[in-house]
Amino acid sequence: MTARPLVARDTSPAGASLVEEILRLKRERGAMLLAHYYQDPEIQDLADFVGDSLELAREAERAAAKVIVFCGVRFMAEVAKILNPAADVLIPDLEAGCSLEESCPPDAYARWRAEHPGAFAATYINCSAAVKALSDVIVTSSSAERILRQIPADTTILFAPDRHLGAYLERKLGRKMVLWPGTCVVHEQFSYQALVELKVEHPGALVAAHPECPETILALADHVGSTSSILRYVQQNPAPEFLIATEPGIIHQMEKLAPGKRFIPVPGGSGECACNVCPYMRRNTLANLHACLRDGVPLLELPEDLRLAALKPLERMLKMAAAPSP
Ligand code: 13P
Ligand code: SF4
Repeated sequence: MTARPLVARDTSPAGASLVEEILRLKRERGAMLLAHYYQDPEIQDLADFVGDSLELAREAERAAAKVIVFCGVRFMAEVAKILNPAADVLIPDLEAGCSLEESCPPDAYARWRAEHPGAFAATYINCSAAVKALSDVIVTSSSAERILRQIPADTTILFAPDRHLGAYLERKLGRKMVLWPGTCVVHEQFSYQALVELKVEHPGALVAAHPECPETILALADHVGSTSSILRYVQQNPAPEFLIATEPGIIHQMEKLAPGKRFIPVPGGSGECACNVCPYMRRNTLANLHACLRDGVPLLELPEDLRLAALKPLERMLKMAAAPSP
């Protein structure tokens, strides 16, 4: 089976002048550009900081810039605004959502919580500000295990919205939780068949997977972790080839940080679609990033009472994620 190529990079003269114009506007506005690893390579290269959800939240909180342009999905930009209300937070495309967020409407989540009185609500950061506001603590893929280990063993944990990450954590912690049935439209679709075929074709390659993948994929992985954790793994492990079961945007950083190694994206679905590429993340383009810097819109705004309610579980996340492992 042939590995799918990465999303094409815009190396045209028009692309180059757009990049120069973005850099000029960024300087002029004193804007800080934060980007997730799933953005197009040219956007990652323009960013002041590229990271996973937790690192981006921390970076946004400490940012001194008056303007933060967030190249990621909307819930990430919301987190930046919640943690740094003094900054104007812009996102190139406000429609950059997330299937996990969509799977968990706040009213349905509130009813689910109410059905489990006394339970502790630990919620994956891939959700709306309204769901965060109804939660006790927020977790990311890089901090979930550490945070959940701090919850007393006799407490019932409600975990939303990703059932695959939830099930992975149950296995790691040896503890059952009550799981919301959401999934990531990208990680859900990684093809088991294609991964097995790639392993046969590349017997020396190691498999790195994100915990949003189903258990069948994780069972074949040599390493499971957040985007940053996968990135560290491929740098530190001496193997020359890796099969990557997460959004292939991250391969851009892998090629920069571990040159000479080969990174093969695991295809999604039948292998004929680009369904391992996040359709939400890739709504941000050089063109709408340019327009966003030029016009100062779309501006991310949140009612102050909602921001304050969502701030509490996020602050708890930052504190618990920094606490020593119990
Ligand atoms: P990370 O926190 O691992 O970067 O994950 C974010 C995400 O949306 C994965 O699909
Ligand atoms: Fe959401 Fe999945 Fe895209 Fe991550 S990859 S932003 S979880 S849809």
